[in-house]
Amino acid sequence: MTKINWKPGTMLSPVPPVMVSCGTVDKPNVMTVAWTGIISSDPVMTYVSIRPQRYSHDIIKESGEFVINLPTWNMVTAVDFCGVKSGKDIDKFKEMKLTPAACENVNAPQIAECPVSIACRVKSVTNYGVHDMFLAEVVGVSVDDKYIDDKGALDLEKAGILAYAHGKYYTLGRNLGSFGFSVNKAKLKDMQKMEKVVVEVKQPKALPEEAKKSAKPYRTPFGLRPARRAKNVSEVSEPKKVARPARDENRKPFKRAIPNVGTFAATQLLSAVPPLRANDVCRKQTAENVRPEISNENLLRRNN
Ligand SMILES: Cc1cc2nc3c(=O)[nH]c(=O)nc-3n(C[C@H](O)[C@H](O)[C@H](O)COP(=O)(O)O)c2cc1C
Repeated sequence: MTKINWKPGTMLSPVPPVMVSCGTVDKPNVMTVAWTGIISSDPVMTYVSIRPQRYSHDIIKESGEFVINLPTWNMVTAVDFCGVKSGKDIDKFKEMKLTPAACENVNAPQIAECPVSIACRVKSVTNYGVHDMFLAEVVGVSVDDKYIDDKGALDLEKAGILAYAHGKYYTLGRNLGSFGFSVNKAKLKDMQKMEKVVVEVKQPKALPEEAKKSAKPYRTPFGLRPARRAKNVSEVSEPKKVARPARDENRKPFKRAIPNVGTFAATQLLSAVPPLRANDVCRKQTAENVRPEISNENLLRRNN
């Protein structure tokens, strides 16, 4: 393995892409923020780093209040939109059909569609380069009751909250364990077996130079797509077909070579997470709804 040294960059990821709402219920604004986090657990202190040129910046500076809303995967369009359009020019709540709702502890509105909204009161504003960091105390949290389980605990797995990493949005993947599992012998044993799974990243085949030149971007109902592979590329990039020898009926039964278990398991593991579908927001990945033949337990059993 070779690690290459890059110049300093915002490589810490994934981070939550949150929707920060501000203003009032009657005149609300919302912007997407990725530079946020928890600073202390007691009192609960958080921050958002906002560039001074953002419309929200001055609203928050003047009111001393904002709300951090956690969006779900099916709100990703609104998340992106609120991160590229300014409230200076449009009403993003209206445009994205978001509902501004009153908060108990601050005048800033929360977003009704978000499963969790965290009301914050600003303690200080400090400039760090191109961003101003709003250090704030969390003064209230409101949670959609459909994500609270029988024991009163918040079960955000159902909600499908978002992650943001290196310019891309993701849903969270499979639950791998709970806090402290590494000191629970049985749970640790299972996880250590899972960790042996090897994920192979195959190098894409390089196109020959002439094929690259003749390929042109093309239009689809979803916009402009990168160049299609030129016809002659298939000859180059497709694996050669090897003629199979005719089956000998008198031969001993075919004995399958043991596959590379790690790679096989990884393929299964990655595909074991059922794809999210429209109207399928609340699917929880449990042993019941993950296809049973590819559940974690079966993967481990198969690998033993
Ligand atoms: C995923 C994502 C994350 C962003 N994170 C930040 C951030 O942390 N701080 C910031 O100042 N702008 C951030 N932006 C840009 C602002 O959301 C964007 O400039 C927005 O239009 C500001 O809205 P406003 O002018 O209505 O306040 C982000 C944008 C996106 C798409």
